[in-house]
Amino acid sequence: MKRFLLIVLALLPLAFHAQDLRLIPYPLYMQAEEGMYAPLGGVTTVYTNLKGDDRKELLEYIATSSLPLKVVKKSEQAHVRLLLDGLDPSFTHPEAYRLEITPQGADAYACDATGLFYAFQTLLQLDGQAQPAGTGQHSLPLVKIFDEPRLQWRGWHMDVSRHFFNKEFIKKQLRMMARYKINRFHWHLNDDPGWRLEVKRYPQLTDSTAYRPQYLWEDWGRAGGRFCSAKTEGAYGGYFTQKDVREIVEYARKLHITVVPEIDVPGHSRAVLAAFPNLACTGRAYENSELCLGNEETFTFVTNVLSEVVGLFPGEYIHIGGDEADRSHWERCAKCQALMQREGISDVKQLQSWFTRKLENWLTQHNRKLLGWDEIMEGGLSPRATVMSWRGERYGIQAARDGHDVVMTPWQCYLDNAQDDPTTEPRGVGGYVPLRLTYDFDPVPAELNENEAAHILGLQGNVWTERIATEQHAEYMMYPRIFAIAENGWTQPERKSWERFYIFALDEVEFLHNNGYNAFNLYTEKGDRDEALDPVNHLAVDIDPVYTHQPSPKYPGYGPKTLTDGERGSYNYQQGQWLGFENDDCEVTLDLDSVQTVTKIFADFMQRADQWIWLPSEVIISASTDGATWTILSREPWQVDFEDPKIRFQRYEWEGSTQARYIRYTAKASGRAGGWLFTDEIIVQ
Ligand code: ACM
Repeated sequence: MKRFLLIVLALLPLAFHAQDLRLIPYPLYMQAEEGMYAPLGGVTTVYTNLKGDDRKELLEYIATSSLPLKVVKKSEQAHVRLLLDGLDPSFTHPEAYRLEITPQGADAYACDATGLFYAFQTLLQLDGQAQPAGTGQHSLPLVKIFDEPRLQWRGWHMDVSRHFFNKEFIKKQLRMMARYKINRFHWHLNDDPGWRLEVKRYPQLTDSTAYRPQYLWEDWGRAGGRFCSAKTEGAYGGYFTQKDVREIVEYARKLHITVVPEIDVPGHSRAVLAAFPNLACTGRAYENSELCLGNEETFTFVTNVLSEVVGLFPGEYIHIGGDEADRSHWERCAKCQALMQREGISDVKQLQSWFTRKLENWLTQHNRKLLGWDEIMEGGLSPRATVMSWRGERYGIQAARDGHDVVMTPWQCYLDNAQDDPTTEPRGVGGYVPLRLTYDFDPVPAELNENEAAHILGLQGNVWTERIATEQHAEYMMYPRIFAIAENGWTQPERKSWERFYIFALDEVEFLHNNGYNAFNLYTEKGDRDEALDPVNHLAVDIDPVYTHQPSPKYPGYGPKTLTDGERGSYNYQQGQWLGFENDDCEVTLDLDSVQTVTKIFADFMQRADQWIWLPSEVIISASTDGATWTILSREPWQVDFEDPKIRFQRYEWEGSTQARYIRYTAKASGRAGGWLFTDEIIVQ
C-alpha cells in the first residue's frame, strides 16, 4: 500500500466525527467543518494551471457545468483553483485528488488532469450542501478531502443489440457516469438480434442485420428472428456510423471514460450469419448463432472487423465476447472436425480456446489486450487474456489465482434484474437485485490473497436489453444501482456504510429526477418478499428431510436442511434459501419424531419462465403415524401456464387437523423437459 494511503487511513478515525457531506462514491478521507464558501456567483473565479488540450477541455467542461464560474488567468485572483502537481509526492495515482474548501475558496490538487476532473465532480456534488435544502443557492461546505479509487475499472455496460439505444442516449448516460467517477463504458455492439457498428469493409452487416420487422426482442424471436432492410415499412433498429463512434469515443474521453468495444464471437452471431451464411457450419443463415471455426474465412472476417475496431477505439482493451456458444455445432461440422484433427484439438471447448488464442495473438500484435466473458477459460485460457466473470465469481477467482486480470460482473451487477418486487416491477430478466444487494457485493473476493487480489481490476454494471426497449426503462434499471457499482469500485471497504450510502442515494435519485433522468424511485421501494424478512417457526424446523429425488447440485441451497431451516427465500432464487430440482419431482419426507397434532402444511414454489423455473403440475400432501400407512391429506392439480412471462410465487397447502408423525410433501415437475422446480421451506404447523 502506498505511503499516502497509510497516512490517510491513520487519519480515518478523525474523519468519522466529521459532518457527513453527501458524496457518491464516498471519498477516502473527508473532514468537514461548520461553515461555507458562499455565495458562488457571477463573480466567482476559477483558475487552472493545466496546459494545452487538458486545460481547454477542463475549462469547456466547467463552462457547461452547473457551477457559475468565470475563468481567470492568474492564480491569486481565483476563488477556485484546480492545480496540477501540488500533491504529496507519494500521491501519484492519476485519478487521485486533494481538495480543500476554506471561507476564501476551493483549492484542488492532482498529479493528472483526471484527478482534477474528479475534484471538480466532487465540487459539483458538494455545491449547495452547506445551505438548507431547497435554497437553490450555490455554495461550498468547508471540507478537506483526500481521495483516490480502490480499483481501476469502474464500468457501465450497455447492450445496444437486443434493443437499439442511440448516440444521444449514450452521451446522456456518459455525462452522468462521470459524476460518479465511472471510467469504463463497455459497449456491447453486436449480438443475435442485430449488428450495430458500421464496418466499411462489410457494409452487408449493417445493411442486412441492423433492422428487423418487430420492435420488441421477444416478438422478433417468436416470429423466427429475421432481419429486414431499413427501408421496410415499420422497420426497427439502427446502428452507429464510424463517425458516430468517433464522436462517442471522444465525448467519453473528455469525461475521462474509456470505451471498451465488444465484438461478441464466436457465439451470439446470428446477425453475422444472416449477412454471411458462408461463415455458418451449415452454410445457411438463421440456423444457429455460432461462427464456423473450421472455416479459415471466419478468422479473416473477425480480424478484418477488428482492424476497423482498433482504428476506432484507442483504449487498450478489446472485448471479444466468447460467451454462451453452443459448441455442439462444431461437433457435427466436417470443417471444424478436420481442423481439430489437423491441430490435434481433442474437444470443442479447446477449439474455442484455440480460436481465442489466435485472436489474442492478433490483438497483441496490434498492441491491444483481449478481454472476454468467462467461458474463454474453458478449454484453456489464452496466456494474457483478461476475464470478465459473469457466471458468479468463481471463474474470476480461478482466473486471478492463475495470474489473469479480472473484471467482476456477477449477477449482483446485472442491472436487468428487477430492483423491487419482481411480480410488479417492469419486466427485466425477472430476478431480484435491489440496491442493497448490489451495494453489498465486494468485487474483491475475500478468499484471494494479496497477490491474487491485485488481479481484480474492478467491476461493472451490465445493462442487457432483451426486455428493456425504451430509454426510460433503461435509465430506471441503471439508476440508482450504478451508484453502488461506483462506490464498490472507488471506496475502500472500511469506508463503506449502507446506512449512509442509502440516505445519499435517496437525495441523488431526486437530483436525477430533477435533471431529466428516469431513476427508479428509491423512496417507494417495497423491499423483499415479506416471507423472507423473518424466520418462521414450525414443527419441522431442524428436522433432516429425506429426499426421494435429490436436489440439483447447481442449486443446493444451504444443504439438505434448507427446506427445514426456518428461513424462507427472497425474490431471488440465486440466494441460498431456494432449493432447485432439475427435470425432477420434489418429494420430501419429514419425521417429526413423535405423533403430533398437525393443522397446516404448506410450501411455496416459484415460476420464472425465462429461467425455465415452473410451478408444479400437482402437489400431494400426505401424513402417516407409523411411516407405513399413508393418508393423502390433499391433492392439488395445477395447470402450469408456460406462456406466462411473469415471476410468480404460489403456495400449495393443506389445512385441517390430523395426528401424524410423518409428513410427505410431493410436488410433481411441470412436465416440460429441462424445467426446474424451486421451493424454499416445507412448513408444518
Ligand atoms: C452474458 O451475460 N451472456 C455475458
